[in-house]
Amino acid sequence: MQGKPNSDNAALMARRTQAVARGVGQAHAVFIARGRNAELWDVEGRRYIDFAGGIAVLNTGHSHPVIVEAVKAQLDAYSHTCFQVLAYEPYVELAERLIALAPGNFAKKALFLSTGAEAVENAVKIARAYTKRPGLIAFTGGYHGRTLLTLGLTGKVAPYKVGFGPFPGEVFHAQFPNPLHGVSVEDALASVELIFKNDIEAERVAAFIVEPVQGEGGFYIAPKAFIAGLKALADRHGILLIADEVQTGAGRTGTWFASEQWPVAPDIITTAKSMAGGFPISGVVGRAEVMDAPAPGGLGGTYAGSPLGCAAALAVLRVFEEEKLLARAQVLGERLIAGLKAIAAKVPAIQDVRGLGAMVAIELCQGGDLNRPDAELTRRVIAEAARRGLILLSCGSYGNVIRILVPLTAPDAQIDEGLQILADSLQAMQ
Ligand SMILES: Cc1ncc(COP(=O)(O)O)c(C=O)c1O
Repeated sequence: MQGKPNSDNAALMARRTQAVARGVGQAHAVFIARGRNAELWDVEGRRYIDFAGGIAVLNTGHSHPVIVEAVKAQLDAYSHTCFQVLAYEPYVELAERLIALAPGNFAKKALFLSTGAEAVENAVKIARAYTKRPGLIAFTGGYHGRTLLTLGLTGKVAPYKVGFGPFPGEVFHAQFPNPLHGVSVEDALASVELIFKNDIEAERVAAFIVEPVQGEGGFYIAPKAFIAGLKALADRHGILLIADEVQTGAGRTGTWFASEQWPVAPDIITTAKSMAGGFPISGVVGRAEVMDAPAPGGLGGTYAGSPLGCAAALAVLRVFEEEKLLARAQVLGERLIAGLKAIAAKVPAIQDVRGLGAMVAIELCQGGDLNRPDAELTRRVIAEAARRGLILLSCGSYGNVIRILVPLTAPDAQIDEGLQILADSLQAMQ
């Protein structure tokens, strides 16, 4: 073991506070020693069930043996050449696999990067190169990353954008449809038209970028009618539709890409997180003629599509097939929704239980009033659950949503154990 001895969580937190910039947040004051599938053990030997999955990265669980083996084999062969210098087959094979999986009855191409934000940046570069237009329309509550362009696209100020502006221009936000909170599909589409009237003419807009299910924004699902309406607007004005699937992708919602469930296919999809089961790689998949708009040399990056990431992603695809994880996501989602609804029946603060596949959340409000989000209760429940051995994460513009991103590979017994801890924590904190 390197460095100073790992004494305990408190001692490590003290060192972290001294040495690490405070802008890097931390949901739990816990230092991890080992993870296997949906279980974690901290440096003090305490066991946790992981319902956070490293923020949607571990659909195949911690250290899945098939993925670990694939990465080890890749490491033994070669670990880096930079694809733009010397190419390697796993990159090409991964592109072939993902373009076959992506929705849309048209020719597609892919490229790989390292992070979700980088995938979004590249999707925008490609859309601008193809349309020769600058404008971008994103949505309220959307989250697209922490680089300056992706922060510009992100539709939530605190904590992400505070102090970091100015952000790139020609980025506008329309309303994300949220019938639960009084924003209808018609309202949302009308807000796009208002941008064309007030901010930028449609003929200068390159792309709409939207999450099929808002991740950081609160697990609100984009209604199919909204997507159909958005695509109609896009077609009318020559605008591209980008699906940001960094959080929804890689099987979380019961299909490999959540946009497979859309009534229309997006022109470009971004993917990252769970596509490689914990190894840093991201990708952009889209219409071949769109993807080929940038000239050679316009796209890439030193570590972009690293051999280790490609090997891990191909192993993830193998695990999905062997363990039938798409079907599992559906069944797991139903189990979670049923369990959470049973809890909600006894906890008035839970005002909504929702999900798409295994991307599931509950929303907590004061006095049963959806207009009074209860971020404080959410924080206390999550802390109590951690004390009882369950790792949870919040999300939502008001911090009052608890999201569940447990590995799809988790056994039912651990799902039920986690739900019981959540129920007990809610009861204890009411
Ligand atoms: C929808 C979406 N887009 C982009 C990102 C940014 O990904 P990364 O943190 O890998 O840069 C995230 C991360 O949470 C995300 O959920």
